[in-house]
Amino acid sequence: MTYKLLLLPGDGIGPEVLESTKRVLGWYKAKRGFAYTTEEDLVGGISYETHGSPATDAMMEKAKAADAILFGAVGGPQWDKLPFDKKPERGLLRLRGDLGLFANLRPALCFDALKDASTLKPEIVSGLDILIVRELTGGVYFGQPKELVTLQNGEKRAVDTQIYYTHEIERIARVAFELARLRSGRVASAEKSNVMVTGVLWREVVHKIHETEYPDIQLSDILADNCAMQLVRAPKTLDVILTDNLFGDILSDEAAQLTGSIGMLPSASLGAKTADGRQPGFYEPIHGSAPDIAGKDLANPIATLLSFGMCLRYSFGRVEDARLLDKAVENVLAEGYRTGDIMQPGMTKVGTTAMTDAILKAL
Ligand code: NAI
Ligand code: MG
Repeated sequence: MTYKLLLLPGDGIGPEVLESTKRVLGWYKAKRGFAYTTEEDLVGGISYETHGSPATDAMMEKAKAADAILFGAVGGPQWDKLPFDKKPERGLLRLRGDLGLFANLRPALCFDALKDASTLKPEIVSGLDILIVRELTGGVYFGQPKELVTLQNGEKRAVDTQIYYTHEIERIARVAFELARLRSGRVASAEKSNVMVTGVLWREVVHKIHETEYPDIQLSDILADNCAMQLVRAPKTLDVILTDNLFGDILSDEAAQLTGSIGMLPSASLGAKTADGRQPGFYEPIHGSAPDIAGKDLANPIATLLSFGMCLRYSFGRVEDARLLDKAVENVLAEGYRTGDIMQPGMTKVGTTAMTDAILKAL
């Protein structure tokens, strides 16, 4: 099987960190028989400069045809004053929307060499490896009515509406259960069924999918507020956390920050299966285009490389290959290599290229 990859470097440090990814891709082709073809296209500010739009129809067609998309970052101060629909960030939102990327996966992984860099005690975070599965296209961010009205007495009233349909909960639950099978076999479903009727439906549907399709998985229910507390109290008791859009937004930021720099954190977003059985996979670092360090060989490429690791794991089922990359990153950190964002006293400071060299050597 030869996979079709679309590379979208974007703006700022995006091209630099995707350059690292291309080198690592080459290693997987040469040494691990990972067969792929790549296409590359513009997105974000650079696409606006060239085509007058942050995401062209032609690029979207390539994205829809690809087996996976590797994305850098978009944006920069030179485009801040553009009208809303021309802004670089709209390019990313169009990709998410048009590809129907309803499942956002954010791991929080603590590399042993960085356990002292966390704000939590090393023993709480060392060995931490959890995965948040967040519903990304439904819930309170999209539900109608959504309005801010001034009443006759001059007071204002704001309304957001949380809506969930059975099918939305079913498909995100399946993603979480499938991923749990590749990991510990445990899922904690976080909602607030004690006070929210969407939470009641969430719990009911998740249990139905569990009983009928994934009885091998160990499912537990956890109220979202308690989940937030457990993330800082005893995060290692959790593995896969399945949750809705709003709680997922909060819990995934909380979990990510348990472990390290923004330059270390990958993400994946998965879409609905298409008629021909393919499932779009979109992989990007959590960080932005970092204009302050762009073009200076200073960016940490690890977040983007680990996003490619997620691609190997989740789009292509190459779990062993993904582990090799995790292990290579762990080794270079243990050897003391650090980009500026994770620099610690006594360590060896390197730039994007030298960090990539070290990771390739470790591979
Ligand atoms: P940012 O994530 O680009 O940068 C925040 C800080 O972290 C900066 O000091 C930057 O130098 C540092 N940083 C980020 N990634 C790094 C890496 N790989 N290695 C070392 N240091 C790193 O967020 P900021 O500054 O708020 O936004 C800059 C631009 O990026 C804006 O135009 C924003 O809209 C856009 N953005 C794009 C995102 C995306 O494409 N997914 C996400 C977030 C922001
Ligand atoms: Mg957020």
